[in-house]
Amino acid sequence: MATLHLPVDRTTGVPIFRQISDGLRRAILDGRLRPGQRIPSTRGLATDLGVSRLPVLSAYEQLLHEGYLVGRTGSGTFVCDSIPDHLLRTPAVGTSRPAARRETRPRKRAVPNRPSPTNWSLPLVPFQVGIPALDLFPHTAWAKLIARQVRAETLEQLAYVDPAGLRALRVAIAEHLRASRAVRCTADQVLIVPGSQAALRLAAATLLAPNDRVAIEEPGYFGAHRALRAAGAQLVPVPVDAEGLDVAALQRRGPDIRAVYVTPSHQYPLGATMSATRRFALLDWAARNDAWILEDDYDSEFRYISRPVSALQGMDVHDRVIYMGTFSKAFFPRCAWATSSSQRRSGAASWNRDSPSTCSPRRSTSARSPST
Ligand SMILES: Cc1ncc(COP(=O)(O)O)c(C=O)c1O
Repeated sequence: MATLHLPVDRTTGVPIFRQISDGLRRAILDGRLRPGQRIPSTRGLATDLGVSRLPVLSAYEQLLHEGYLVGRTGSGTFVCDSIPDHLLRTPAVGTSRPAARRETRPRKRAVPNRPSPTNWSLPLVPFQVGIPALDLFPHTAWAKLIARQVRAETLEQLAYVDPAGLRALRVAIAEHLRASRAVRCTADQVLIVPGSQAALRLAAATLLAPNDRVAIEEPGYFGAHRALRAAGAQLVPVPVDAEGLDVAALQRRGPDIRAVYVTPSHQYPLGATMSATRRFALLDWAARNDAWILEDDYDSEFRYISRPVSALQGMDVHDRVIYMGTFSKAFFPRCAWATSSSQRRSGAASWNRDSPSTCSPRRSTSARSPST
């Protein structure tokens, strides 16, 4: 631990707990902290870094939750020793990455993109799965914000805007994702879409060919199944357990799986957070099989016991992850975003150009919120 460099910079605006958790995660990923190694006490590290104990406690709690660290009663906190050795040489989060090995494969034919009604239709009842507390929505404040925005609307905003979505909204989403989920993206890589299912259909229509085999979590989100099936995918169920998707079972499904749909931050519907070991194994599987990971981070705004979990996308060094999020839980259905980890915009741009399902945030009330 003497050689561990954990710089804390109070001028960056990045919360100190996140600087510490990112620094420790990086140290684990690039091998400066080895599996099974004991890490300093929170009090000791706080003294070394010249910070209060609170951010160090939050950082440890976060990494315990993500599965990078394990606590052993009476003897301290250790780096998880089940992270496979060969995965730990992965370049650290935030470093540059090699170009993707495979260009997007062209689709063989267009697939009809017909939306179907949700299973969460009215009537609304208390504790209904998948629906936020709509009765608590701040209608009056929202109406004022909408009215203010409409009054300020320019002629340019009334004309055809960037099909990727309102620039100010994409900038706000990119900042939010970088700060709260360690997602690696710029505003140019964010697309606004009318819901996560639209993001999935778009991803599938762009990246997959008809009848491609796509792995899905079992049990899993029926909305994703429907969207992928509508895009012509052949669904391959893979079991989940307390650590999330069973990657060994995924590997046994064969080398021709082109993509996998996962909810690693909060598995739907069982609730597990995917362990660090599984995350590395899944990223490794995708890189070795040239497959895509469709990461659905649908409700990370809501946590009782820890900060939002860092995204799989932020750990990906092979450009294999399409990250999707939504406002459906924080506000109301339906406005979502998708980002790819690719530094090249070409793939993302073609999603947009060709997609009739991309919404214009100018007309979507829920898309305006961060810029208001
Ligand atoms: C797993 C999962 N993904 C995504 C969503 C949100 O989908 P959308 O953005 O299409 O409303 C939900 C809604 O509950 C969900 O359960």
